[in-house]
Amino acid sequence: MSTELEITLLADHTTAANPDVIIVPTARHDGAVKVPVGLPTEVAGVAIPATIDPAFAERHRFKAKRGQTLILSQAPGAPTLLAVGIGDPTVPDDEAWRRALAAALRAAAGPRALLLLTLPSTITEPRLGEAVATGAYLAVHRTDLKTGEPRPSLETLEVAAFAAGGVSIQAAEGLAAGIADGLVVARAVALVRDLVNRVPSELTPRRLAASLLRRLEKAPKVEASVWREARIEEERLGGLLGVARGSSEAPRLLIATYDPSAVGNDDEDASPPTSRKYVTPEAQAAPDSEELAHIVLVGKGVTFDSGGLSLKTATGMTTMKTDMSGAAVVMAAILGCSELGVQARVTAIAPMTENMPGGAAMKPGDVLTARNGTTIEVLNTDAEGRLILADGLSLAVERQPDAIIDVATLTGAAVVALGSSMGAVMGSDQALVDAVLAAAETAGEPMWQLPLVADYESQIDSDIADIKNIGSPGEAGSITAGLFLQRFTGDIPWAHLDIAGPARADKATGYIAKGGTGFALRTLLTYLRSLG
Ligand code: BES
Ligand code: MN
Ligand code: ZN
Repeated sequence: MSTELEITLLADHTTAANPDVIIVPTARHDGAVKVPVGLPTEVAGVAIPATIDPAFAERHRFKAKRGQTLILSQAPGAPTLLAVGIGDPTVPDDEAWRRALAAALRAAAGPRALLLLTLPSTITEPRLGEAVATGAYLAVHRTDLKTGEPRPSLETLEVAAFAAGGVSIQAAEGLAAGIADGLVVARAVALVRDLVNRVPSELTPRRLAASLLRRLEKAPKVEASVWREARIEEERLGGLLGVARGSSEAPRLLIATYDPSAVGNDDEDASPPTSRKYVTPEAQAAPDSEELAHIVLVGKGVTFDSGGLSLKTATGMTTMKTDMSGAAVVMAAILGCSELGVQARVTAIAPMTENMPGGAAMKPGDVLTARNGTTIEVLNTDAEGRLILADGLSLAVERQPDAIIDVATLTGAAVVALGSSMGAVMGSDQALVDAVLAAAETAGEPMWQLPLVADYESQIDSDIADIKNIGSPGEAGSITAGLFLQRFTGDIPWAHLDIAGPARADKATGYIAKGGTGFALRTLLTYLRSLG
């Protein structure tokens, strides 16, 4: 039996299965709270009002703000009728729907909910379905941190759609497709959350790589492999090897490619690609890989960051199991692309290691040689993310993609600058940065661009190597980290997402759970789906 939230689009609202709560979206329009016109007058034995009494709304300070809830009726044995705000109905706002669903389901009295929607909405049917499903699933998805078992607080969400006059819409295909996609996205986010929340001595680099590889191998049109130490040495990943030296756990590098033009690797009957005569109909219909955009994602996979010999403080270390978020995000993006059938070739590269102060640890003053030959003077072993990303980005450039996007919990300075709900974006190509920012806006993941100030480049000059791994203390730490990374991106359009703040939440809000958040994954999927 599935223990996750099931979302069903009903063809007819009279078939709703004994809901515990009926959710009515409400908007604020012309200064008054409005129930949408087009709902039936009665659903599951509960009267649905055409309007909300202004005095009643006023008394409860209900203004139909995004995610605000108000119980309209509640009788023993009958479903609770719950109004939830979606804000201004004239503004297309996907996030309002996610927050509304999250708030309503968290306020729900029992395990079965029924959502009433009228179409057309402020956003298209697919977007509405996706926002509803994502907000709902993520609001109630919980993994018991003690048992590892999923424990959603809700079992079913049924959705009934209506046209003007309270008529059930039998086949809201766009809505159904949106719900299906929204569930794929939400499950991918849940995977990242669950990985981030694992205890660090259990989720070592080897286990993280193996766990993701197992899933990637099952995904259609995905090829994945793990590099072990011997291969990492052979490939001269000096940054990754340097960071891993202080740990008794071996490093890994996970690399996965989703290619929609590939002959399905899950198809037993697929003939070898060389025998053109026998290609499957699916392969014939598939796009030519030459015409597809190729994007390489690089994710920081530090499964625990103690700081190394430049040891962190006791409190600074408490959340450092989160430091593999970037790796989990980029690999979950590959899984999402595969399930959603994204029309772009997407490669994800994730160097994975612990950063520990062992007897063989790299020392401040050491010089490492990264994959692309750049020499790096390590002056602070706690600036380890950029060392492993140097190799990851070098590998990305070798693939000559159309764009590179890296995701990393890179600097505490990003948390100082933007707080813990906003990510920082930097990049060498403004069009790419703008596309990422637009995707972030749609996804409801707040991000803000920081400039790669060329004048600060001298801060990372080194007397004994090409560059050093820290800038001037207390000055623009996120930007100098970005400038460091830029040295490894060649002439490929590149964007860098510093998610040090939002990768983790210290309390649950809306559809964001406490602990790992999966931040940046929904932005990446939104961006990748916009290609081709
Ligand atoms: N993983 C940390 C960044 C971080 C800090 C993430 C706080 C989340 C919350 C990173 O490896 C790090 O330690 N960065 C140093 C860089 C400094 C030594 C130049 C930092 O931000 O202090
Ligand atoms: Mn560090
Ligand atoms: Zn780190």
